[in-house]
Order: sequence, then structure tokens, then C-alpha cells
Amino acid sequence: MENVIEFKEVHKYFGTKKVLTGLNFAIKEGTVAVIMGPSGTGKSTVIKQIVGLLKPTKGEVLVEGLNIAEATEKELLEIRKKIGFAFQFGALFDSMSIYENIAFPLREHTNYDEKKIKEEVIKSLELVGLKPEEIMHLSPHELSGGMQKRVAIARTIILSPDIILYDEPTSGLDPIASDLISRLIVKLQKELGTTSVVISHDINESFKIADQMIMLYDGKVLADDKPEFFKTTNIPIIRQFIDGISEL
Ligand SMILES: Nc1ncnc2c1ncn2[C@@H]1O[C@H](COP(=O)(O)OP(=O)(O)OP(=O)(O)O)[C@@H](O)[C@H]1O
Ligand SMILES: [Mg+2]
Repeated sequence: MENVIEFKEVHKYFGTKKVLTGLNFAIKEGTVAVIMGPSGTGKSTVIKQIVGLLKPTKGEVLVEGLNIAEATEKELLEIRKKIGFAFQFGALFDSMSIYENIAFPLREHTNYDEKKIKEEVIKSLELVGLKPEEIMHLSPHELSGGMQKRVAIARTIILSPDIILYDEPTSGLDPIASDLISRLIVKLQKELGTTSVVISHDINESFKIADQMIMLYDGKVLADDKPEFFKTTNIPIIRQFIDGISEL
């Protein structure tokens, strides 16, 4: 299996604030990797460097072997077409209906006619557990936060990207909706071979989906292993983190 995403000695500073100080990890094609760690450790910063929204201060971020910081505008566009990014804080266009929000990537990147677009929008909403006919014509602000989150995920998956980055996909969702999103992530992996990177504080959901778990702490990778390791390790700092959050 090939490494789809690789971080090599990545440092990221904001001014004098050193957020990441030498991150190393690799994520293999067709797997689900969960990134966890305390609030403010730089998890969203990691994901933003994968799509090139942020550049490392030092070190290399490779996506399908391409050094993102040194990529040309054209290369970056090509790679971004293969990546779906579900932001931590939903990024729906409030001036557009739910239907238009989800149709947007199809209008940008395909030549589908309206009938095909509608079919795809409906399919995508059903996949995230929403009822298309009830919400399609509403504006994002007319939905609950959890529903908006699911609409954002529906928009992210609509082009069947090779790589999907989810920044806290289940936070704010009830257990049933969380479970549905987890099953969706695994379904995309099994059926389309999608590689997923999931930032999560939800340890129970993480154990259900992860092939690999990466724990960030103090600017570095504290542990990078299979879920089994995190379930059984006696390393106090990891134990405390895992047990602490699973009790929430
Ligand atoms: N654009 C930016 N400019 C300055 N500081 C930033 C910027 N983005 C992030 N930071 C800082 O970097 C640190 C890590 O932020 P990040 O959002 O990556 O954390 P996180 O691990 O995703 O946290 P959470 O679990 O709360 O979402 C924080 O201290 C934050 O203030
Ligand atoms: Mg974050």
C-alpha cells in the first residue's frame, strides 16, 4: 500500500507561537486515520496543510508524493480536485438553498444535466441521513447545527473524492447521527477505496472506524498506532486522554 499523505519533520509556527515542532507520520491509501489530541494542539492546522490552506514553516507535507508547499498553482488545483474537506465549522453558503449548496461542486466540476444533479443531491443527502424532500429548499440557517454539519458532509462527498478530510464530523451530533456518519466513512472506504483523515474527540466513534490513530501532544506525535494499542496501552498520558474523553 502506498502512502497517500506524508508529514516529514513538519514545523508550523504562527509568529512566535510554535504549534507543531517536528511532526512525522504517513497515511496509507484506502485507510481511515484518526487524529486526536487536546484542544489547541494543532489538529486543524495539520488538516489545513494537507489542502495547502496553510504552509509548513519547516519540513514537508506530501500528498500523493507531491510537496504541497512547492506545488504550482496547476498542480495544487489538480490535487484539490481529489480532496474533499469538511471544515470544523460548517462552511455552507447561506445565500443558497441546501440543494444549491450540494449541487455547487457538481456545477463547478461536471457537465451533468439538472436531472442527474438532482439525483446526485438526493442520493448524497440520503447517505448522511437527511430527508431530501424536507430540507432541500431551505436555507442553511433554517437547519440545526447538526443538520448543517451533515449537509456539509453531503457536499464534501458528492464528487467521490479519493481523499476526504473531516474536521470533527460528529461533534454536536446525537449518537444516532454520529454512528451514521461513522458508517458512512467506512462505507466510502470499503466501496470506493477512499482514504479518510478524521479529526475527532469522540473516542468511541474513532475506535469504530480507525485503521490508524495518531495522537498529537505538545507539537509532536505522541503515538501513532492501531486502535488496539490505544485500547490497551498503559502509558499514563495516553490512558488519561482516552479514558478522560470516553467518559464525556
Ligand atoms: N491562522 C492562525 N493564526 C494564528 N494562530 C493560529 C492560526 N490557526 C491556528 N492558530 C493557533 O494554533 C493553535 C492550534 O490551532 P488548531 O486550530 O490547529 O487546534 P486544534 O487542535 O484543531 O484545536 P480544537 O480541538 O480546539 O479544534 C492554536 O493555539 C491556535 O490559536
Ligand atoms: Mg480544530
